[in-house]
Amino acid sequence: MTRVYNFSAGPAVLPEEVLHRAREEMLDWQGSGMSVMEMSHRGKQFMSIAAKAEADLRELMAIPSNYKVLFLQGGASSQFSMVPLNLLRGDKDADYFNTGAWSQKAIAEAKRYCAVNVCASSEAKKFSTVPARSEWKLNPDAAYVHYTPNETIGGVEFNDIPDTGDVPLVADMSSTILSRPVDVSRFAVIYAGAQKNIGPAGLTVVIVREDLIGHAAPGTPVMFDYKIHADNESMYNTPPTYAWYLAGLVFEWLKQRGGLKGMAQINDRKARKLYAAIDQSGYYKNPVDPAYRSWMNVPFTLPDASLDKTFCQEAAKEGLVTLEGHRSVGGMRASIYNAMPEEGVDALIGFMQEFQRRHG
Ligand SMILES: Cc1ncc(COP(=O)(O)O)c(C=O)c1O
Repeated sequence: MTRVYNFSAGPAVLPEEVLHRAREEMLDWQGSGMSVMEMSHRGKQFMSIAAKAEADLRELMAIPSNYKVLFLQGGASSQFSMVPLNLLRGDKDADYFNTGAWSQKAIAEAKRYCAVNVCASSEAKKFSTVPARSEWKLNPDAAYVHYTPNETIGGVEFNDIPDTGDVPLVADMSSTILSRPVDVSRFAVIYAGAQKNIGPAGLTVVIVREDLIGHAAPGTPVMFDYKIHADNESMYNTPPTYAWYLAGLVFEWLKQRGGLKGMAQINDRKARKLYAAIDQSGYYKNPVDPAYRSWMNVPFTLPDASLDKTFCQEAAKEGLVTLEGHRSVGGMRASIYNAMPEEGVDALIGFMQEFQRRHG
């Protein structure tokens, strides 16, 4: 068996230990005589898997007891609608930070439901930074403030949680959740598609403060109402059981590695060495303001874009795959989520140096 180093932005690499464990348990989960995929979601066995996953996530992120954790479907993209449908509570205005492609998608969807005030934007700077605090125009009467702590395509990451006072703060944490400790109590809602740092695609995790549940706009589809899912422990309908189980295995794996503090140290080290290799090369370039460079998604360019294809082809021959930048921006992008081993980053750096020697 040959495993590659997969730098995909998502669905992304999963911890090898988790895949082994899933394989061992595939046909017969802990003496049940069946695969987790075949279990009733309302049976004792799956209920125990679900409860353990939630308890482990609560422990990892130190989620306060006045928050519900929902295990949903529909991707982070469904949250672009669920957030306004549940949080506007009769208001007509919401604040949105515009720091890249995913912010823009969230904004476009929110405009169907409310007046969006773009409280700060880095669009004029080609999304290469986070707008300076002095430029923020927060509306104290907004129903909520939405931001994207890590822009997966641009590789731009907030280095701090915006202070929005009493206005509920909503974060699309899809590509940064679990990469480091975070103070959940600062947020009204945190949501994330699972397919980067949590588990396989098909699962969406939503962490929502209880007082914000139960205020969905009239006409909200039942599947888009946080209250329905909270009241039914994410089992109003059939949940994505296997993805939930795998997420649970990832949470256990994280706990064995020193939790989010442990991951933060490793992630900091991995990102630091990759950015250093880019900056010191005199060949590769990362366009992002160093204060806001992402720990998880590292875009970079070559001096001559016509070599991009060759770079990716030669890298793939060395077992370094999915390094193509997002189709909207081109260049290269290395996503180095929790499950990317440090050796993978070392191998990429080694390859980049070798490529430069041959083509630079
Ligand atoms: C920051 C961010 N938000 C939202 C999405 C969309 O997620 P999904 O495909 O789960 O709807 C992505 C997907 O890459 C993302 O990176």
